[in-house]
Amino acid sequence: MNNTQRTESDGMQRSPDHLPHLVLLSEVDLPDVLALERSCFEKIWSLEQLRSSFCRGSLILLGAKNPERLLGYVAFQIVESDMELLNVAVLPAWRSQGLGRDLVRAALKFGLEQGVKACFLEAAADNIPALSLYRGLGFTTTGIRRNYFQEQGRNLDAVMMSKELRIAPEHHAPYLESEEK
Ligand SMILES: CC(C)(COP(=O)(O)OP(=O)(O)OC[C@H]1O[C@@H](n2cnc3c(N)ncnc32)[C@H](O)[C@@H]1OP(=O)(O)O)[C@@H](O)C(=O)NCCC(=O)NCCS
Repeated sequence: MNNTQRTESDGMQRSPDHLPHLVLLSEVDLPDVLALERSCFEKIWSLEQLRSSFCRGSLILLGAKNPERLLGYVAFQIVESDMELLNVAVLPAWRSQGLGRDLVRAALKFGLEQGVKACFLEAAADNIPALSLYRGLGFTTTGIRRNYFQEQGRNLDAVMMSKELRIAPEHHAPYLESEEK
């Protein structure tokens, strides 16, 4: 992550205490996750939907905090050796500093540690930042779902992507193999 001093309107000082740190989120964080979603997406889950998925244990959330404020999060599910990346979002003022990449990397590393062999996701075909982020992390396109998303009265295709997860031979503990292809 790029740790340069920030002067954005949130007025955060960049002391070591204020550098974003990645943590597993819990039920008390769900209202903050929704607030973050609201600043990034047109359609969002309700708190009840989010809480019900989370409490069933089917949803894992990792967040970037600074130190208490949620700056970004990644949501995923693990079923046996497959993992589905459901969402990643970073507050607008904190984008383009490597936070999105750190979050997805952390999710993939979490998956590897749980024995995941492959990660799948879908992203809107016009979402250049997200598609570039995933490609940079070694995801490849496996197909297109036509008219999969509806946004502002428009139908958007979804790009389906996947990445095999492997442990890099030079590391003893689970660690992501080289990302760029
Ligand atoms: C997609 C998103 C999470 C990226 O987060 P971020 O913290 O800004 O991304 P990073 O700074 O970690 O950038 C990682 C890579 O993503 C790509 N990227 C990020 N912003 C980009 C932009 N505006 N244009 C093109 N590529 C971009 C680049 O490949 C970048 O690598 P580089 O810096 O080496 O060029 C963020 O833009 C976001 O929250 N968007 C709204 C929510 C969303 O659409 N989520 C995706 C759902 S599928």
